[in-house]
Amino acid sequence: MVEDKVMIMTGAASGIGLGIAKAFLNKGAKVVLADLDKDKLNQEVAQLKIQGFDCIAIQVDVTEENEMPQMIEETMRHYGRLDILFNNAGLQHVTPIESFSTEKFRQMVDIMLTGSFIGTKYVLPIMKEQGYGRILNMSSINGVIGFAGKAAYNSAKHGIIGLTKVAALETATEGITVNALCPGYIDTPLVRNQMEDLASHRGVSSEQVLEEVLFPLIPQKQLIDIQDVADYALFLCSDGAKSVTGQAILIDGGYTAQ
Ligand SMILES: NC(=O)c1ccc[n+]([C@@H]2O[C@H](COP(=O)([O-])OP(=O)(O)OC[C@H]3O[C@@H](n4cnc5c(N)ncnc54)[C@H](O)[C@@H]3O)[C@@H](O)[C@H]2O)c1
Repeated sequence: MVEDKVMIMTGAASGIGLGIAKAFLNKGAKVVLADLDKDKLNQEVAQLKIQGFDCIAIQVDVTEENEMPQMIEETMRHYGRLDILFNNAGLQHVTPIESFSTEKFRQMVDIMLTGSFIGTKYVLPIMKEQGYGRILNMSSINGVIGFAGKAAYNSAKHGIIGLTKVAALETATEGITVNALCPGYIDTPLVRNQMEDLASHRGVSSEQVLEEVLFPLIPQKQLIDIQDVADYALFLCSDGAKSVTGQAILIDGGYTAQ
């Protein structure tokens, strides 16, 4: 399915990006793991190489217009082609709009939305020449519904879906598909830590926070596995998904069905 395909994953040093990169490596893809956090990235890639996977680490700040083309050129020098770009780098900050710093808002939109735009902009000439490409953009349930306290996150994640649709339309006859993945709460250290913070704040256990705060919002009453998102991403990169483009795919245990 993705054997010998070359993928760039941004935000790959941690969490979902790392988990999905591993899922693609397990299926025989060659992966460029790209992240701002050089130490964590090198540590993870060293481990993956020991396990025999074909991957490289490239430190990149997705907001830097000069670093992104360099990363893409390095990928082309090393692997000779580029089949899949996964724009995944992101971060969270929760506070009401009146106390949300404008600087923080700009930074978050810059990383999640402008970063995805820059990545897309520089891979398109290569994918068009190849007549093949898959672009996956990491949105969220917060790309389709609002959530109080998440002004920058919601703005960026909604914007990513708009970018996905435009990129899909501009590449519709070029053998390229562009889709956004919109997961709900995924079982990652980041989410588990948020549960623990909330639990210590309320003087309850993190299991109680899950039961009392999150699960009432999630019909399936469980967090999403990274593997579920990885499996969908793998499907979108398969021939069977060649007609799926410009879509925002919700993987949310029924969260947005209510
Ligand atoms: N965790 C969830 O439940 C969840 C749900 C839906 C969507 N998402 C999205 O999935 C993506 C990954 O989230 P995660 O939970 O794995 O978070 P994470 O913090 O574990 O990973 C994010 C990675 O992005 C990197 N990064 C941040 N700024 C960067 C920059 N300027 N350039 C390059 N890399 C940068 C970080 O160093 C980090 O390694 C994000 O876009 C997030 O919004 C997460």
